Amino acid sequence: MPKLCIALDTEYENALKLVKALRGKDITFKVGYKLFISHHRRITEPIKEEGFELFLDLKLHDIPSTVQNGVLSAKELGADYLTVHITSGRDALRRAVEVSDGLKLLGVSLLTSLEEEHLKDFGVCLSKEEYVLRLASLALECGITGLVCSGKELPLLKSRFNFFAVVPGVRLGQEEREDQRRVVSLEEAIRNGADMVVLGRSILRSQDPVKTVEDILPLLQTHP
Ligand code: C5P
Repeated sequence: MPKLCIALDTEYENALKLVKALRGKDITFKVGYKLFISHHRRITEPIKEEGFELFLDLKLHDIPSTVQNGVLSAKELGADYLTVHITSGRDALRRAVEVSDGLKLLGVSLLTSLEEEHLKDFGVCLSKEEYVLRLASLALECGITGLVCSGKELPLLKSRFNFFAVVPGVRLGQEEREDQRRVVSLEEAIRNGADMVVLGRSILRSQDPVKTVEDILPLLQTHP
């Protein structure tokens, strides 16, 4: 059954309120720059204390020793998932895996806000699919077991590799895709083989976020 991950890209008080309101539910909370930089343990500790899984979305991208230190610090905070940019390179990925233990490392290939035109900006002349496949293969070769990918590329990746698929850029209905480009519906993400769906604004901006989560959870249960 796919997991539900809520991206807590919101104000601190609001995030805390949501964490407490969802006590007892099978949810992973994703903490990114917004809350982590300003609140650090004041947000990670309540998530762990309430019994939820903690996903630190810090998208590490640095030299091997710095990335390895980042993984060690994330473990100290009790993180269950941590993102690392695959373009940090094979040495950084291997050093991260070396110390990861129970922490699940998730390789980021191409952000769901990027398209082929952005690859050209970087001087990369591959198609999106070729680029994502190449990075996925590198990450898995280095021992990374999870990949963050768009629901659009998921069928292709799942047909080639065995990995834990984390899918952001998911929308519930006819909402705005905002800065996201490669969005998919929740049903499409699940159908395409997501092991974890990440939803931020669709939940945070709904009239009643707790009710929205309660509506989503049974949809996930219908999939093995
Ligand atoms: O609000 P929305 O549902 O678009 O949020 C998606 C979340 O997933 C954000 O926190 C964003 O940083 C994250 N993410 C992403 N694309 C990736 C990796 C992470 O959108 N490739």
